[in-house]
Amino acid sequence: MKIVLTGASGFLGRATHQALSQAGHQVIALGHRQAEGAVRSLDLRDTAAWRNELVEANPDIVVHCAAYRDPDFCEREQEETRRLNVAPMCVLADTLAATARILFVSSDYVFDGEHAPYAEGDERHPVNFYGQSKREAEDIAMERADSIILRIPLLMGCGPSFDESGFIAKTIQAIEREERVELDDKTMRFPTDIEDVAAAIGFLLQEQAAGIFHFSGPEGRTQFAWAQTLAALMGREANHIQPVAAPSARHATRPANSQLSTERLRSMGFDRSTPFSEVAHRVLALRT
Ligand SMILES: NC(=O)c1ccc[n+]([C@@H]2O[C@H](COP(=O)([O-])OP(=O)(O)OC[C@H]3O[C@@H](n4cnc5c(N)ncnc54)[C@H](OP(=O)(O)O)[C@@H]3O)[C@@H](O)[C@H]2O)c1
Repeated sequence: MKIVLTGASGFLGRATHQALSQAGHQVIALGHRQAEGAVRSLDLRDTAAWRNELVEANPDIVVHCAAYRDPDFCEREQEETRRLNVAPMCVLADTLAATARILFVSSDYVFDGEHAPYAEGDERHPVNFYGQSKREAEDIAMERADSIILRIPLLMGCGPSFDESGFIAKTIQAIEREERVELDDKTMRFPTDIEDVAAAIGFLLQEQAAGIFHFSGPEGRTQFAWAQTLAALMGREANHIQPVAAPSARHATRPANSQLSTERLRSMGFDRSTPFSEVAHRVLALRT
């Protein structure tokens, strides 16, 4: 397949680029500020440039990973969030050839967190602007009947360096800092390996799937409890980490428990989930 992949320089996009290339697809990989090597820079907020790219590439499918994904940034910068998280989807839906398809990477944050676990058809009710922007983009994607929406929760995995290894690296840094740190002990998080998500994307393309799919790791804990788990794996004390209901630096509300049911993907034969401890050991090994 000829695939345009957006967000290819990001945490998930890098793993997806690798998985799709290894599966033999022709991947046109797009990033923005961190684009280098096989990943080309294109600002998706530049509507004309994005439209030209799609017309010239004429792909079979666009795997759309690029987004602002920090809920606090999105809450503060709503116009800007819409420029990246929603507007490029309008261009996509308008410009793609009728035979071409969209796989949109969405989020568990389209749900309010009051009725977990969530199945694909459950009502969406985002509690923050990030979730709202994802819901809007989903709606635009779904106007094309054969689109794929893949909702995922908090990602974990190894980036190109320790510092770029997401929530596990940040939590390790908090454990090692040994100064008072507040971590959320209210919101349940289900960290999911980026390589597993990339494999799920490859699986959905191979199956010619259409519609909404959920994918999630099975292990759920609060951010505070994940820090305790990591500290135990590292053989460290973490008494300086304080459990709080909502860290004071936060702007956006989080859904209390937006666990995604993965029954649909499992019933299709995709049942991969790398344990947290395995990913944590890989991230720890990246530290110099
Ligand atoms: N991370 C999570 O825990 C999580 C959870 C649920 C859902 N998701 C969703 O998964 C997807 C991937 O997330 P991620 O964690 O991989 O995000 P990420 O690491 O922040 O990567 C974002 C990507 O978007 C690109 N981008 C940013 N501004 C752009 C612009 N103006 N034009 C074109 N590209 C631009 C970035 O390019 P440069 O870096 O080159 O500027 C980067 O490749 C997103 O849709 C996100 O909403 C993520």
